[in-house]
Parts: sequence; structure tokens; C-alpha cells
Amino acid sequence: MNGNKSDYVPIVDLPADSRMDKLSKAFYDEFQVKPTFIVRVPGRVNIIGEHIDYCGYPVLPMALEQDILVAAHCIEDGKLYVRNKSAKYKSMELKITSYDDIKIEPDNNGKPFWYNYVLCGIKGALEHLKNKINVGLQLLIDGNIPPASGLSSSSALVSAACLTFLHAQGAKLSKTEIASLCAKSERYIGTQGGGMDQAIAFLAEKYCAQYITFHPLKAVSVALPEDATFVVAHSLAEANKAATNDFNRRVIECRLAAKIIATSLNVSNDHTIITLSQLQNMLKEDLKKMVLYVFYYLPNDLYTKKDICQLLKITEDELNNIYLTPNTRHLTEFKLKQRALHVYEEAMRVDDFRKMCIEQTNGKSTANGQNGHVEEDVIGKLGELMSRSHASLKELYECSHENLDSLVDISQKMNVHARVTGAGWGGCIVALCHKDKVNDYIEALKEEYYVKKCNKDKNKTDAYVFATSPNYGAAIYKI
Ligand code: GLA
Repeated sequence: MNGNKSDYVPIVDLPADSRMDKLSKAFYDEFQVKPTFIVRVPGRVNIIGEHIDYCGYPVLPMALEQDILVAAHCIEDGKLYVRNKSAKYKSMELKITSYDDIKIEPDNNGKPFWYNYVLCGIKGALEHLKNKINVGLQLLIDGNIPPASGLSSSSALVSAACLTFLHAQGAKLSKTEIASLCAKSERYIGTQGGGMDQAIAFLAEKYCAQYITFHPLKAVSVALPEDATFVVAHSLAEANKAATNDFNRRVIECRLAAKIIATSLNVSNDHTIITLSQLQNMLKEDLKKMVLYVFYYLPNDLYTKKDICQLLKITEDELNNIYLTPNTRHLTEFKLKQRALHVYEEAMRVDDFRKMCIEQTNGKSTANGQNGHVEEDVIGKLGELMSRSHASLKELYECSHENLDSLVDISQKMNVHARVTGAGWGGCIVALCHKDKVNDYIEALKEEYYVKKCNKDKNKTDAYVFATSPNYGAAIYKI
């Protein structure tokens, strides 16, 4: 795929890097042996296209510099030893038998243990390998992606574990195959995520964001305006999507919306689950028309289970068993119009964003020098799409958080467009800022938000807000 881009995760020499050295040393201290290789998988920030990947629509993320590193050594005893470099994460080990034996269960408060994400990756890899393994593994993990921040620390951990395990067993999968496998593996945690996070983890390229399309999975590089800087700022509200049913609720609301419109229009009369994009393909209509269908066939603000059963001509048992997930079966009311509207309109925004980026790249090659203010104009227009995305996520999708809204408001006062990034309900915003303005903007966020609103020590705010640019995807480092 993608012409000269490599199809496989690169296997390269270990770079001279003090974090890698410290990890190797800590590995030796833990296991009294040197690691044989280190896997690196980055976190990501999604620029635009939120909560639409699981509906089949394209998204536009880029990889971060922050990552998960897994140092690994193969052993003969058929066991898996999982350690974290940070003492606050407890160790775990198990005998590797079959993927069925790997149970992924949360703690007593319904929150996943950190290593459950590692187990998701291992379970998925084992299933792919049909339980045929050659070696056991000792693993030491080190991460610097802030957890529960919408920057995909969980997916990076799942993906890093899966890649490590496959590499150790000598399995060779293409980047797209492994990204799809990791997306499937992460669902063992209980959330029905799309494939964005795992796709960007493997398909990311330095200097470009990626326009990721699904079914089949593909990534195309998108050059961002040269003067554009993306700033990520943490709201200080943590959100773990596997610890609540907020995420799955949105997934099933989208499924139900698609199925009801399809049933009303007589294009799907069986019980198969369809996504909002499959519905669009069945109807062969454009996104604007899909918005009209939503208003017409889903006019109500709320739907009860009874309403849905009548519209789909199914029993409540069928609704529960076919369309709902274990953690959404007890819900009684659903917002279908609002969620479907967000999805179709956000899909349009992604398309507009990508086209504007392409136009400005093409325009620049012919503009001959006077593109300074042209770029500023493009940055403003791209930013408007991001602001509209935030408004939709707040109002229609209800996945923002008051802290995120505060950060967006402060940004707006500085004429900077910003939006929640990732699943939401906490975590980070991503802002689009002209590079000349970025220092003032970050300074203003530090003062107005972290110091005045959250009483943080100004000297410690660098960890919460940073400028970023597109980074490399996953790699395997030989030692
Ligand atoms: C999480 C999921 C992704 C995507 C985003 C929201 O990160 O893992 O698949 O749905 O939320 O855009």
C-alpha cells in the first residue's frame, strides 16, 4: 500500500537514547539478563474525526512523540512475565497455554488492571497464532503517554504487547494486518472501539497526519500547513473509557440509529448489525442526504427500548442480545438522532479538512512566495472545522467535560480553535495555532487554566501542555 511506504514494522538498530539505556538496565536488574529487543509504539492525537471510526468513517490522527516501550527477552519455560518500570504498576505472570485461558477481568470497582491491556494484546496474538508458540517472554514496560488522557495510552500498550509477542514468535504480519488484529484484541477489554488508535500506531509517518479509511484499512499522508502547530493540553480530568459504559452506549446508539433508518427504508430486514457508513453505502446517498434521513426517520430526542423494538419489529430479548453489549443491556433510553447527526456531520468535516489541506499543498506549489496570509487563512478555516467538531461533541455526542470546555473557551478568547481529542469525558484538547502565536497561547493556557483555575504551580505545567508535530509509527529495535 501507499507506493513506497514499507508494509512491515521496521526492525532497526537501537538508537542511542538515555531512556532506552535506562530501560535496558532496569530490565537487567529485574531479570538478570539483557533484553533481546525493544518495541516502541506511539500515542496519538486525533486532529479531527471523533467517534466516527466505529461507524466506518475516515479519521485524521497523527502519532505523538510520547510512547510505550516494551523491552523483551525470550525464554524457554513457556511463561509470560510482565513488569512495569514504574513501581506503582503491579507485576503479573502466567503460564501461556491457550488464548481461551487468558481471562481479562477488571478489579472490584470495574476498573481494568493496567496489565489487562498487555493481556489483550497477548490474547489477540495467541488467537492469531492458533496457540502455536515457540517461546515464553519476559517483559519490562515503560510508558510516557499520560494515562486516561485521550492520547491512546491503552491502545499503544495493547499494540506494543501484541507486536512484541508476534515478533518473539517469528510471526510476520503487515502493518495493516497487525493494526486490525490489535483493534480486535483491544475489544477484549470490553469497549467496542473502532480501529483509529491502532491504525495510526502502525501507519503513522513523520511530518504528516494520516487520513485513515477503514474496510479495507488504508492510510494516506496528509501534509498540514507549514505554519500550523498543534498544541495538546490536558484538562486534568482523567477518563478511562473501559471503566464506564459511556463509550459503548454511543457505539450501540449509532448501531440502532443505522438499523432503524435502514428498516424504515426497507433496505435491511434481517438482524445484522450495520454501521452508519454501511447504511450510507446501501442507500448510495451523500452525507447531506443522510442528515436529512436522520431528521426524518429519527425525529425524537429520546427512544425507549419499547420504541426501538417496535421500529425494528423485534423482541426486547433480541434487542438485548443482538444489538446491545453486556454493559449497555440495562439502559432504558437512547439518543439516536443526536448521535447519528454528529457522525454524519463530523464525517463531512473530516472530508472538508482533508480537502483544504490538499488544496493548500497544491496551491503552495503554484503560489510563488505570497502564501503567508494564504496559510493563515487556511489555518483559520481548518480551525473552524475543529471548533465545530467540539461543539458537536459537546452538544450532540455529550462526551465533553467542563474542564475541556473551559480550555476551549480560553482558547477561543485567544482566537485559537480547539476541540476535545480522543474519546472524551475528560482527557485532552487539541488546538490548532499559527506557529508565531504558539508561545503566547501556551503561556495563556498555563496562566488562565492551570494556575488560576486549577491552582497548579506554574513551574510544573510543562507536563500538561505541549506543542506537537506528526511523529513516527511503531518500530522494533534490535539489541
Ligand atoms: C477511542 C477509541 C477510538 C475512537 C475514539 C473516538 O480512542 O479507541 O477507536 O473511537 O475513542 O474517536
